[in-house]
Amino acid sequence: MRKLFIEDLKLAGKRVLVRLDYNVPGDAEGRVTNDARITASLPTLRHILAEGASAVLCSHRSRPKGDEPRYSLRPVAARLEELIGLPVGMARRGAVVSDEARNMAAALSPGELMLLENLRYDPREQEGREELARELASLADLFVNDAFPVCHRKDTSVVGVPRFLKSAYGYQLREEVENLSQLLGEVQRPYVGIMGGAKISTKLGVVKSFLERVDRLLVGGGMAYTFLAALGREVGGSIHEPDYLEYAKDLLLRHADKIVLPTDHYVVERIDPACKARLADEIPADRAAVDIGDATRRRFAEEIARARTVFWNGPVGYFEDSRFAEGTRSVAREVAKLKAKGAFTVVGGGDSVAAVEDAGLDSASFSFVSTGGGASLEFVQGKELPGIEALTDR
Ligand code: 3PG
Repeated sequence: MRKLFIEDLKLAGKRVLVRLDYNVPGDAEGRVTNDARITASLPTLRHILAEGASAVLCSHRSRPKGDEPRYSLRPVAARLEELIGLPVGMARRGAVVSDEARNMAAALSPGELMLLENLRYDPREQEGREELARELASLADLFVNDAFPVCHRKDTSVVGVPRFLKSAYGYQLREEVENLSQLLGEVQRPYVGIMGGAKISTKLGVVKSFLERVDRLLVGGGMAYTFLAALGREVGGSIHEPDYLEYAKDLLLRHADKIVLPTDHYVVERIDPACKARLADEIPADRAAVDIGDATRRRFAEEIARARTVFWNGPVGYFEDSRFAEGTRSVAREVAKLKAKGAFTVVGGGDSVAAVEDAGLDSASFSFVSTGGGASLEFVQGKELPGIEALTDR
């Protein structure tokens, strides 16, 4: 990359503002239920501290309305303390860059770290306001961005802060870019994309550009029912987006040979613990599809088995309910078989990562598991990410 890397910075004696992605899932009290993104930040933090610098960490968590306590980063600080084995100071509640936070930052000694409260508690974070960028920048001498999953956003901490501080990328961000870049040039073929998740509307760009690059696109989840509805098929109460039927029809016309849609489904009367799913070739008008059917699983497995490159984003069913997770698990298992055969397999997006874990697999089963959802989708389309662009040139 033509941007500064963390190892290019002279860190000794400096205070470093580090943008991380601690947008981690939590329970009703906000306790961390998956710490993968916290673990992913450790190499960068250890490097900064070992070089004799101190670190002021910052992140958003979820999309809070105001300062909803369940999205506080306090439980994240507690988990980070356990993982890194050091105290992680946090200011008591108040503004993100409060006087107390400023004083704490000023008092940090080399090798110490602190965490600011959820950046999105301050509305200026998502408004891209220079004033907040200056406030954040005033806490440190240098800036490191190791928050790949938010690099597609123009949030203040992502693109604003680098205007005021020498800015480099961290280890996790490098890992993401190096791996995902391999999907941009020449790839081993067949290249199979697997796209799931509820909505086509949030993935229009990626579906379209993917269809130019892949040999097959296996489509599941809510997105599949928009395609099936575009073909005039009954989708009953399945998640689908009537506003995108024309768009889906156009893609089907252009890429009929590449798009593989479900041919059978598990359907339910309602999503309700009492309702049992049954297998159906056609979706009855009074039922909703919640998972791909057995024949579809076999067809997807055949396509995956032939692949030499795979990018998978999004579950192929309503996998949050474990009764309807088997289709997604089967995709995870089939993709996981490929790495040992020399294929390059990438999983991206929070839900797909959760699906991998749900299938009893881990990141070692794939060539790369991206921490980024939307960001990885934009990157693999070849788009420049504002958060990377904003960093200091070498
Ligand atoms: C993510 O989880 O994809 C990132 O943290 C970005 O979150 P956002 O979509 O709320 O900006």
